[in-house]
Amino acid sequence: MIEARSIIKRYAGTEKPAVDHLDLDVRDGEFLSIVGRSGSGKSTLLHILSSLIKADSGSIMFRGLDIRAASESRRNSLRGNDFAVVFQQHHLLPHLSALENVLLPFCNRLSPVNARQISAARNMLKRVGLEHKEDSRPGRLSGGEQQRVAIARALARGANVLFADEPTGSLDFATGTSIIDFLHELNKDGLTVVMVTHNDEFAQRSERVVRMADGMIVS
Ligand SMILES: Nc1ncnc2c1ncn2[C@@H]1O[C@H](COP(=O)(O)OP(=O)(O)OP(=O)(O)O)[C@@H](O)[C@H]1O
Ligand SMILES: [Mg+2]
Repeated sequence: MIEARSIIKRYAGTEKPAVDHLDLDVRDGEFLSIVGRSGSGKSTLLHILSSLIKADSGSIMFRGLDIRAASESRRNSLRGNDFAVVFQQHHLLPHLSALENVLLPFCNRLSPVNARQISAARNMLKRVGLEHKEDSRPGRLSGGEQQRVAIARALARGANVLFADEPTGSLDFATGTSIIDFLHELNKDGLTVVMVTHNDEFAQRSERVVRMADGMIVS
């Protein structure tokens, strides 16, 4: 599904590349975990694959399109429609309800959200098991519930690939386990998942684990 070849990314003012001549394939429907020590380049790689930042060189093919060479509007559309990203922090807006947060990806300045979008958002909340909490603001939800709303929001527009950067990083083990269980359920339903984690136990549950060191894949 994604073929990354010879990816290099060096941040301005740093000597060593954060990602260094890296090759990686992500297969359609797989659950891939990325592990490695702090600073090994995991987040940078995830951000490059999900088109949040651009590599300095190399190519990233997604269904026949070179993402790195694509126009900014094409990259925006990929981020909005094909790729979903969740982080360690949920980044929900505190003054909006759970449902309103899930509706955010549908919002634009030109038109109000429509009934079909509200129903899609409700379906996503149901899928994450939170249909009964649609009116709750994030502050009234548990950490695991907040992360599930963030996942619902990321997937609201029907993404094919979910990129998750330490999605359990700020949760206790039991809550983290429930989020990983949930990601596996989504994966069984066909979602491709690429997850960065520091937790070996969580990583071992995935089909494939790649380990990074110094910006490269070492195993
Ligand atoms: N915005 C930035 N500007 C400069 N250097 C950066 C920036 N972001 C990351 N780096 C550097 O790039 C390297 C890789 O960082 P990255 O965040 O990808 O690592 P990571 O594997 O995700 O680490 P962690 O497990 O701590 O999240 C590190 O040396 C880091 O200091
Ligand atoms: Mg990181």
